[in-house]
Amino acid sequence: MADITNTFAGIKSPNPFWLASAPPTDKAYNVERAFRAGWGGVVWKTLGEEGPPLVNVNGPRYGAIWGADRRLLGLNNIELITDRDLYVNLREIKQVKKDWPDRAMVVSIMVPCEEAAWKAILPLVEETGADGIELNFGCPHGMSERGMGSAVGQVPEYIEMVTRWCKANTRMPVIVKLTPNITDIRFPARAAMAGGADAVSLINTVSSITSVNLDNFSPEPSIDGKGSHGGYCGPAVKPIALNMVAEIARDAETRGLPVSGIGGITTWRDAAEFLALGAGNVQVCTAAMTYGFKIVSEMIEGLENWMDAQGHASLDDVIGRAVPNVTDWQYLNLNYVTKAKINQDMCISCGRCHIACEDTSHQAITQEVDGVRRFEVIDEECVGCNLCVNVCPVENCITMEPLAAGETDRRTGKKVSGDYGNWTEHPNNPSRVAAE
Ligand SMILES: Cc1cc2nc3c(=O)[nH]c(=O)nc-3n(C[C@H](O)[C@H](O)[C@H](O)COP(=O)(O)O)c2cc1C
Ligand code: SF4
Ligand code: SF4
Repeated sequence: MADITNTFAGIKSPNPFWLASAPPTDKAYNVERAFRAGWGGVVWKTLGEEGPPLVNVNGPRYGAIWGADRRLLGLNNIELITDRDLYVNLREIKQVKKDWPDRAMVVSIMVPCEEAAWKAILPLVEETGADGIELNFGCPHGMSERGMGSAVGQVPEYIEMVTRWCKANTRMPVIVKLTPNITDIRFPARAAMAGGADAVSLINTVSSITSVNLDNFSPEPSIDGKGSHGGYCGPAVKPIALNMVAEIARDAETRGLPVSGIGGITTWRDAAEFLALGAGNVQVCTAAMTYGFKIVSEMIEGLENWMDAQGHASLDDVIGRAVPNVTDWQYLNLNYVTKAKINQDMCISCGRCHIACEDTSHQAITQEVDGVRRFEVIDEECVGCNLCVNVCPVENCITMEPLAAGETDRRTGKKVSGDYGNWTEHPNNPSRVAAE
């Protein structure tokens, strides 16, 4: 059986599945249920500074996007950090860590951007016996207007400064949680590293409005007729998160910096993809909120089964394996030629591929052959874009078939080269450097 025990930034857990800082980790009751279900660790719901607890709205705090089957695809929230008393949280953290010593207990923190505020809270958290802290520089709503959360995460200089304060004032590993609401994720990651961060985690939620009520013209979730932007998460944000994780993993300046992957992880496969793109572990929120804590057993079993089938003995065999295959567009092989192929036995003749290709692509799929409704690819027109594969309702009915070297591409009339050739050396590239 594959070994999925994990060490992330020096923090050990029996598996790489942690619950992200959010409602599932807001109190001992939830976290104990999560640990009983098998989660390897948690990042406790973000703690704020000492004083009267924060106040959340008393109305709806979620907006959502669903698929046609009502499956939740994206969740938007306007919740703040914890609204429970700091000392109640600290007592519970200490007790849960004592009761579950083998699980990772990381505490998320967000206090004002002043050294004194960080200096005050760090010893309190350290005293609980927690394994590490996560600095919440990601929350895009409510807290950012108070100069915290993404207001810090959007300014690399602040990230570096606060990280440095934390490293100077605690022995615990420091994980910096990044906001995706920026242009280039590499800059905040580099800043965290410069400040001495032991790791980064990403993504926090994406600024969003999910819908507008067309009766009262209020954005949802509507609080007495008004709405504000919230933070978007769930399966819909996974592609954004995967790209950002990969960007950090392949950046020469942050190479080796541990990354905790977060964003839309719902299945073991999602988790494996994050690991392959360089994440050292993963964190989950929306999937647990949608399906409950027990989904972790499928994640664990699925990951182990896949690793066994592939001959991966431990997570180190998987982590970062896809990173060397992430490249910039200009280095893609322009001599690689594919054509769509329709399996006539599987085709249900719905016509979606035809209309997609006919109206918006390359007019490369028939609707009728010899007076009969039939969908066939016209190789002379097909550019291999795979739009038809993605709109076809029958999985694997349309496949993309590469042409072998030496075969003629009937669209261009040219023989397919077996050599690799990219845009940097292509004759049509006006800025190419001649390769004499
Ligand atoms: C209701 C809700 C509250 C959240 N609160 C926090 C928080 O207090 N601190 C934090 O760092 N992230 C918070 N998050 C963000 C999650 O930890 C996570 O980064 C994000 O939801 C993406 O992961 P997911 O797609 O698995 O949900 C919250 C998310 C939700 C849905
Ligand atoms: S791969 Fe693109 S061009 Fe070819 S048939 Fe499909 S949609 Fe048309
Ligand atoms: S979309 Fe798929 S099922 Fe529908 S006609 Fe095209 S190949 Fe057949």
